[in-house]
Amino acid sequence: MPRRPIVGGNWKCNPVEVSKLDGLVANINACDTTDCDVYVCPSNLHVGIVYTKFKEGVWCTPQNCNFKGCGAFTGEMAADQMVDMGLKWCLIGHSERRGEFGLPTPPESSALLAAKCEYLYSKGMKCVYAIGEPLSIREKGIEAVLEYCVQQLKPFLPLMDAEKLVIAYEPVWSIGTGVTASPEQAQETHAALRKWIAENKDPATAEAIRIQYGGSATAANAPQLSACPDVDGFLVGGASLKSEFAEIVAAIA
Ligand code: G3P
Repeated sequence: MPRRPIVGGNWKCNPVEVSKLDGLVANINACDTTDCDVYVCPSNLHVGIVYTKFKEGVWCTPQNCNFKGCGAFTGEMAADQMVDMGLKWCLIGHSERRGEFGLPTPPESSALLAAKCEYLYSKGMKCVYAIGEPLSIREKGIEAVLEYCVQQLKPFLPLMDAEKLVIAYEPVWSIGTGVTASPEQAQETHAALRKWIAENKDPATAEAIRIQYGGSATAANAPQLSACPDVDGFLVGGASLKSEFAEIVAAIA
């Protein structure tokens, strides 16, 4: 059964101005979602402004959540409120939340992220889980990369459900750098992750689970990366703020 492609746009902590949001929403709504799932991750403050403005087939997806729901958790985002808003997905585990760039302190561990995923599931939500290695690991070769990413995946084995979980493989050294993984690197890593899931969870889940590539994905490199059999889509940062995002969706669809 072919996996339905999925492309996410991670606006991160952009834009500064609320006045720019309608243009960015239009940019996302310009995508053809016939043959590709599309989601977008506005900043925490902007989710509340834009979440009702996306067309059918585009899911507004918060960039984080806590694992305790609502209550005395100042500054947190709760899945309970997301459910009430009609949101279906939440992104967790982005490397920018794992301390790779200095924030947050303390950085989020994969065990904490598994607890967040479990809470999302308990509220009927679905999860995009970001993993990926720093350059120092990539430079040691694919076995080191796989070992690093497997440590991030292990706490998620009980949560590995292709209907509720999408994995976003985002090599840290390619995020925001313009240095994209080559199609060979992306395919080798995605295939190795899928093989590990087949051996440690089950072959059916491994075959069905969608693994997105993230890290300097653009309209220029999306066609080649889309041709990789184990690349099921993209998690796009910078280019999701530009009109080329629709081209990236078209490339994988
Ligand atoms: O979550 C997607 C992001 O980390 C990739 O960013 O700007 O390299 O596409 P960018």
